[in-house]
Parts: sequence; structure tokens; C-alpha cells
Amino acid sequence: MRLAVFASGSGSNFEAITNAFSKDESVEVVLLVTDKECFALERARRLVVKTFTLDKSKKRSLYEEDVLCILKKERVDYIALAGYMNIIGSTLLSEYGGRIVNIHPSLLPKYRGLRAIERAYENLDSEIGVSIHYVDKGIDTGEIIAQDKLLRGDSSLEEVIERIHELEHRLYVNTLKGLMK
Ligand code: GRF
Repeated sequence: MRLAVFASGSGSNFEAITNAFSKDESVEVVLLVTDKECFALERARRLVVKTFTLDKSKKRSLYEEDVLCILKKERVDYIALAGYMNIIGSTLLSEYGGRIVNIHPSLLPKYRGLRAIERAYENLDSEIGVSIHYVDKGIDTGEIIAQDKLLRGDSSLEEVIERIHELEHRLYVNTLKGLMK
């Protein structure tokens, strides 16, 4: 199975996934797609993973055609969004629907969209979590595949964010292993 990861930011999930599958015969991370310059590209250079940055000055249907073209060229079977801050449009969904998953740092359906961890923390939620879901037309609305959570306890916001990221890396790798069997 050939996996592409889409990211827009730091790329820590991308790195965790790539490393986890580096000795796995059945899954390989073959491409990182970004929608801008970001640290994930630097990680890809270090990990020797091919990259593609889409041209957002084009309209969505056109840049998605470009992405589709490279996904086909790289024979990508499955897509994992990891901090990808861009909507997946109908061009990609019609080709890869059911084979695109996303990670979101909340116990969906709570806190869809931005600043999910911060909002859970500000609301004094005792449990703060992570969800992996299939991608559909909406924002963080697709069918939930897996969730995990931690107890906020007396952790500071910074500590919760760090713990959530660790949880994300574990949950994403384990979930992808199950999905891509
Ligand atoms: C993660 O918290 C993910 O859940 C959210 O964006 C963040 C990306 O982190 N969608 P990274 O770029 O993988 O470090």
C-alpha cells in the first residue's frame, strides 16, 4: 500500500507515520503534499520522501487536478491528512473517497474546526481527546474511525497540547495499520 500524507504545518504526525512504516513491508509513505511552505517539507527532505506543494493561486478544481496527477503518478492508494488546513474538494473526493482520513485533536463531534484543544481546555473539559475520521465534504464531519483521550488533570494548556500530540502519533499509526492491511 502506498500512502500520501497531506500537511500544512510542523509535520510531526507525518514524521511519526513515516518512521513507523519505514520498516514495514506492506505500507510505504511515498509522498508529502502541502498547500504552502512549511516545516513538514523540511522533515520530508530529511526523511527522503518526495514532496509536492500545490499552487493555491489556481482555483480548487485546477490545483486538485494537479494533485490527482501526481497521486496517480506515484500510484498512491491511501491519503492521510495530518494538520492539512485546506478543504478537500470534489475532484479528490470522487477519486479517493473512502480512502482519505484525517486526524483532529478533539473528541468529535465536539470542537470541529480551529483551536480545538484550546477550546476544550477553556471549557474545563476533564477529558480531552483525538479523533480519526473519514474525510467528506464537510469540515471534521466524516464518519469517526477511532478516538482516544487523556485526563486533563492539573496539566497546563502547553502540557495538554504536548500530550495530545503524543497521543495523536500513536493513534494515527495504529489506526492506519488497521486500515491499510
Ligand atoms: C495536529 O494536532 C492535528 O490533529 C491537527 O493539526 C495538528 C498538526 O500537527 N489537525 P503536526 O503538523 O502533525 O505536527
